[in-house]
Amino acid sequence: MTSLTIARPDDWHLHLRDGAMMRAVLPHTAQHFARAIIMPNLVPPVVTGDQARAYRDRVLAALPDGLAFEPLMTLYLTEDTDPDDVAAAHASGLIKAVKLYPAGATTNSASGVANFDIVRATLERMAEIGLPLCVHGEVTDADIDIFDREAVFIDRVLDPIRRATPGLRVVMEHITTSNAVDYARAQDDSLGATITTHHLVINRNHILAGGIKPHYYCLPVAKREEHRLALRAAATSGEARFFLGTDSAPHTDANKLLPCGCAGCFTAPNTMAILAQVFEQDAALDRLEAFTSRNGPAFYGLPVNSDTITLTKSAPDYPAHIDTEDGPVTVFDPGFDLEWSVR
Ligand code: DOR
Ligand code: ZN
Repeated sequence: MTSLTIARPDDWHLHLRDGAMMRAVLPHTAQHFARAIIMPNLVPPVVTGDQARAYRDRVLAALPDGLAFEPLMTLYLTEDTDPDDVAAAHASGLIKAVKLYPAGATTNSASGVANFDIVRATLERMAEIGLPLCVHGEVTDADIDIFDREAVFIDRVLDPIRRATPGLRVVMEHITTSNAVDYARAQDDSLGATITTHHLVINRNHILAGGIKPHYYCLPVAKREEHRLALRAAATSGEARFFLGTDSAPHTDANKLLPCGCAGCFTAPNTMAILAQVFEQDAALDRLEAFTSRNGPAFYGLPVNSDTITLTKSAPDYPAHIDTEDGPVTVFDPGFDLEWSVR
């Protein structure tokens, strides 16, 4: 096969940031993707409906002429979140999800949730109105090994929340383990799971063997090879519960290459090229569209995009770094030559 036309993809987990960084990264997503779930972990976070409306307006103002893109906004769940504000933002069509960061789990998560009992009323209201909860699924306990934090979160936090809140729609975000794949497969269709591009490509050796590679450091951190293979099998399966959320997370090189560097892989420019190659390697090109363009809208109750993109077998043209007013941002290097480009 040398050409593949699919419904235009969406990104169900994206970091756009704000200001100069947003202006630099947004065109790379809008070039290929019609819509994206926009993460609210700005400084300060996007907590209220008013803040989400203002952020959406800034995203749309930063969009270059001629590119169509719909930001799907989220609210950052805190222990002070007002369930009525959440419900109003959902009723007006402004927000498509609420994001749960366990306090301290990742970049700008200090305002996240430490005591899950305090957010119970908000979760119950979300179940009533059908508003999904997007979950960063890692415990933060110092005594839990970082490679075990996702599996422990499923047992100690996620499953109890879901049992206590029947009907709550949940997205397990950026899953990184076979434990998460198995858990997702055992649930009904109120549960979805996103998988990033980079977790289909790298395992923990890519980060740590032969020298430390800060550009491969993200959260949840990449795990053993057996887990990467489980994610590959899930993503390429075509199963409705699995869909693309790139977690494309730009940080300047200055902030990545530090003694304590930031977590995040910037994959927006080459995600579709990498995914085409991954699905081709796994003899699953016919299921790429399900993963990038169909399963996500079905979970969120949105229409599949009516326009299409065409992937052709030719080396893609994208920069190794993009320039921003804050400094260069390195584009994720899959470590192999890419052979598909979006026409
Ligand atoms: O690698 C990551 N980067 N994981 C996250 O959960 C947050 C993100 C970011 O905002 O940089
Ligand atoms: Zn993220």
